[in-house]
Amino acid sequence: MIKKVLVVGAGTMGQGIAQWFCQQGIDVQLTDINKDVLDNGISKVKDSWKKLCEKGKLSAKDVLVFSNHLSAGLESEIDPNVSLVIEAIIEDLKIKKETFLRLDKLINPEAIFASNTSSISINSLCEELKVHRKRNFLGLHFFNPVPVMKLVEIIQGKYTETDLIENLKDWFNKNGKETALCLDSPGFIVNRIARNYYGEPLRIVKNFDREKFREIDEIMKKVGGFRMGPFELVDLIGIDVNLSATKTIWEEFGKNPRFAPHEIQEERVAEQKLGKKTGEGYYVYDR
Ligand code: CAA
Repeated sequence: MIKKVLVVGAGTMGQGIAQWFCQQGIDVQLTDINKDVLDNGISKVKDSWKKLCEKGKLSAKDVLVFSNHLSAGLESEIDPNVSLVIEAIIEDLKIKKETFLRLDKLINPEAIFASNTSSISINSLCEELKVHRKRNFLGLHFFNPVPVMKLVEIIQGKYTETDLIENLKDWFNKNGKETALCLDSPGFIVNRIARNYYGEPLRIVKNFDREKFREIDEIMKKVGGFRMGPFELVDLIGIDVNLSATKTIWEEFGKNPRFAPHEIQEERVAEQKLGKKTGEGYYVYDR
């Protein structure tokens, strides 16, 4: 069902999605409007395979095979004959809609269009597309790091064909992912539930204080059994990505205070201290 995938956006999520599809033997084109971001995305995927090879998790032959499935190009250079397009760009409704309208003109009419949005409504993303494309439009929400995290949330919009949802569910399950079918509601399942995991710790600490962040992270891991504490997890996700999801969900729930953004998030984003990807977020990282 899926022969060739176009991944749009070469940031953290685009990299992980591209890596995972290549590992399933699917041809992937990675694209981005920014050439530097695209080059960086490709080298990050290759670095990840190199590390896995050094750790003995992959053979040199595996890496060669996976690398042969990966190609990159600016939008003007991409092959339009893909079976699936996955958009993983900035969480901004207007920019995403413009991107889909542009891609609609470029990509073959039978291709499935999916957004990896974590919180924006699938119906609103496709509302300006033609009916045929809307029927093949859905949400495919992956989790970071994509090659490791099993879950894919599949979001059916009001126009999405039910057969498409069922077929994709089967395809992902056969390829080792667990799927959760979600309604097109704010934050879907995981991001809605996880709001408290990200937001409440900020309300507990009140001010920026790394010792308190560490203390909370350790409690959640040692006693709560979580793989990562909330501060280190948001540093992995990206504080900017997390803040835009927070704002979308908060606004879609009528600015309910239980989903409200926190000034510490706003400050970090204003200073571009976005987490692991920028070398500093709630914590500081070696790059
Ligand atoms: N590709 C393939 N495998 C990878 C990988 C990658 N890019 N990165 C890590 N791995 C593998 C490692 O090889 C290792 O495999 P083994 O267990 O077989 O040795 C395993 O993953 C664990 O990695 P590490 O040993 O390097 O590190 P770790 O044990 O500290 O685990 C982690 C790191 C996988 C990130 C783990 O801490 C974890 O699962 N954390 C929770 C992550 C999470 O909750 N993500 C969801 C975020 S929310 C989101 O993404 C949604 C959104 O809307 C933004």
